[in-house]
Amino acid sequence: MRIEKGAKVCITGAASGIGRSTALAMARIGARLFLTDRNGKGLSETCSLISQIGGEVCIQKTFDITSLEDVKAFADKLHGDFGPLDILINNAGIALFALVEDMAHKHWKKVIDTNLWGPIHGIECFLPEMIRAKKGHLVNVSSTAGLTGAPWHAAYSTAKWGLVGLSEVLRYDLMQHNIGVTVICPGAVDTPLKNTVEILSVDRESPSVREIIGQFEKHAISPDRVAELIIDAIQKEKFLVITSFDIKILYFLKRHVFIAYHMILKRISRMLNRMKEL
Ligand SMILES: NC(=O)c1ccc[n+]([C@@H]2O[C@H](COP(=O)([O-])OP(=O)(O)OC[C@H]3O[C@@H](n4cnc5c(N)ncnc54)[C@H](O)[C@@H]3O)[C@@H](O)[C@H]2O)c1
Repeated sequence: MRIEKGAKVCITGAASGIGRSTALAMARIGARLFLTDRNGKGLSETCSLISQIGGEVCIQKTFDITSLEDVKAFADKLHGDFGPLDILINNAGIALFALVEDMAHKHWKKVIDTNLWGPIHGIECFLPEMIRAKKGHLVNVSSTAGLTGAPWHAAYSTAKWGLVGLSEVLRYDLMQHNIGVTVICPGAVDTPLKNTVEILSVDRESPSVREIIGQFEKHAISPDRVAELIIDAIQKEKFLVITSFDIKILYFLKRHVFIAYHMILKRISRMLNRMKEL
């Protein structure tokens, strides 16, 4: 869909990283913004950056997307004052890397509640009004871990694969209502997530962990680039967007040269396992 000036765009996780960059990019094209995050300070910073460039934030609200009640209260207020959204961007997320034997139930729950239930709450609360309006676009921010069995990503991959599957179903179910769907699968992106990612049972200062973080940084693209790709995908009605060239190759190998993909994942697995060696 064409993003018109005044388009109503809601972005979750707008306090930081990809969400903040996307909010700023949307503001530059004249969208009316509805921004949320659980980090109130970061969210206010995003809003002041937007007002510095002359953008319009109609509502900013601090809450946790794992609470259906909070998402619903926000959606009711938004619908009451402004009507249906044009674009919903389910972006908020957390990362946790671990081997399954090191994970407690709370680790699974936290990641799946945020990265899968969070977007489902957004879909439950906002899509019915968009369906009534018979127009709009839904963007779900998944991950490379939503397309590949990335080692150490058990809970994260479970949620992100779920989000890819959900997006694919909605792509077809929402066509009849003139609503487009995009699923974004970033590779490494240089955002504060690299500092907040929880890595269980490792010493973050050890040489092997630092080497892996260094590899991540070497391959990372900017959140501004991801924001450009999100906007391009909405405008050109693209479904699956893989943001990094290395991940496009990996996904190609998975589908067409599985043995090469398998060898690469085994190598990544051995490299990540070294994080636990003291
Ligand atoms: N950075 C990467 O390399 C990368 C790679 C693949 C996918 N992603 C995905 O991109 C999305 C954005 O991540 P980012 O890299 O910009 O990270 P980020 O940490 O910079 O931003 C994520 C934002 O989501 C918010 N958030 C987290 N849990 C929340 C909750 N329960 N309720 C409300 N807000 C919550 C955080 O406060 C933060 O502001 C995430 O879904 C992440 O999984 C990131």
